[in-house]
Formats: sequence, C-alpha cells, structure tokens
Amino acid sequence: MDTAQHKARLRQYFNGIGFERWSAIYGQAQLSGVRRSIREGHTTMLGVAEQWAELPPAGTPATALDAGCGTGLFTLALARRGFHVSASDLAPQMAEATARAALDAGLGDRVTSRVSDLEELAGRYHLVACFDVLIHYSSEPFVQMLRHLASLCENTLLFTYAPYSPLLAALHRVGGFFPHSQRRTEIQMIRDRTVRATLADCGFTMGRTQRVSRGFYHVTLVQARRHA
Ligand SMILES: C[S@@+](CC[C@H](N)C(=O)[O-])C[C@H]1O[C@@H](n2cnc3c(N)ncnc32)[C@H](O)[C@@H]1O
Repeated sequence: MDTAQHKARLRQYFNGIGFERWSAIYGQAQLSGVRRSIREGHTTMLGVAEQWAELPPAGTPATALDAGCGTGLFTLALARRGFHVSASDLAPQMAEATARAALDAGLGDRVTSRVSDLEELAGRYHLVACFDVLIHYSSEPFVQMLRHLASLCENTLLFTYAPYSPLLAALHRVGGFFPHSQRRTEIQMIRDRTVRATLADCGFTMGRTQRVSRGFYHVTLVQARRHA
C-alpha cells in the first residue's frame, strides 16, 4: 500500500468507526481497561504538552497549528491559553467536532478548523502541535511529514512518536497493542535517532522529551525549537 492509499484508509477509519471509538476515548464515556489506559496516557501526555506550550513574547503573534486535531482537546487548551489556533484534520468528522467544541466553549473567535492532510497545509505558526498522528506512519512518510511540519513552524514544535523498543517490537509481533477485536490502525515505531536527525536537518534542536507509557499507550513527547 502506498502512502496515498494508506492516508485514504486512515481518513475513512477516522471519519467512521474510528471517530466513534476515539471520541469515546477523548470524552467522558465509561471505558474498558485497554481504552481506559489509552485515555490515561493521552491525558497525561496532553497535560505535559500544555505546560511546554509557551506563549511568545509580547509583540509576537500567538499563532498555533494543531495538525491532526482529532476532537480538538489540545486545540481548546491552546485557545484557552491565548493562542489563535488553526486546527485541521484529515477526517471531516474530526474537524467538525473541533469546530463545534470551540463554539461550545466560547472560543470560536480563537479557533478555525478545516479538513486537510497536514502535508497540504501552508503558512507559518509560532507553535506547531501534532499529537498521536505521526504514530500511524512508517519511517519514510514519517520523516516527510515531520519535515513539512517543521517548515510551518517559526519557533516551537510539539509532537509525539511511537518509540522503537525491542519489547514493544515483540508486542507488535504477537498482535500489536490492541486486541484483534479492537485493532483498526497500526502503530509504527520510529527510532529515536531518525527523529533527532530529521529535526537537526530541518534546523531544529530537540529540547525536552518525555516518554509516556500507560497500559496500551506508549509515546515519546518531543518539544523541539528552531535554531536562532
Ligand atoms: C489518534 S487521533 C489524535 C487526535 C489529536 N491529535 C489528539 O491527540 O487528541 C489521530 C488523528 O490524526 C488524524 N490524521 C491522520 N493522518 C493525518 C494526516 N495525514 N493529516 C491530518 N490529520 C491526520 C486522524 O484523522 C485523527 O483525527
């Protein structure tokens, strides 16, 4: 399957059954153990990311991009902090959910939401966020997408990737993080050195990193900064 076909499959998934599943995980519904661990890991990850999302100094526009915004949890967190956020997602249902959530939260004037593949986005933003999106792409498209996100970023890039580890690789070999009945998307592990080299090549320094592991949720959160 080439990248375009893979993206089409992800779009279909996240616009259908995936929308229901992930809205539940990102919402308040009662969940089973597996999904509860994903919610806990994701909530922890977003909490740390929020602390790392610093507003620019006065006089610099506080613009942010949330690429692959899902139901808008981080978009809203950024808007509450004072950012003007451009949110986008490959799946129309996700982009619509974010727009609705912004209106419901009274943050409609700080959020715009659109349907777009992150590689089709243009412009420049002080902060670019992309959480639990690149985890779905193998090394080659991962690098291409990270490079594109870096090109949109003036200052701070925040993203997650699924780090390679022999233990997790073994888990994948015996069936992945999700039980078969619940598995719809595959998680692609990336080597730390690939992430570091890509960022350096794009003029970014890897700043803070944090590994978040809860049950079936395993990511590395990265804060990278553009060189002065
Ligand atoms: C697991 S969800 C994460 C949502 C959100 N970032 C969060 O952490 O709450 C992954 C999201 O990435 C979106 N996505 C996947 N590939 C994408 C791409 N190439 N461009 C934009 N969005 C994409 C999916 O539609 C889905 O909404």
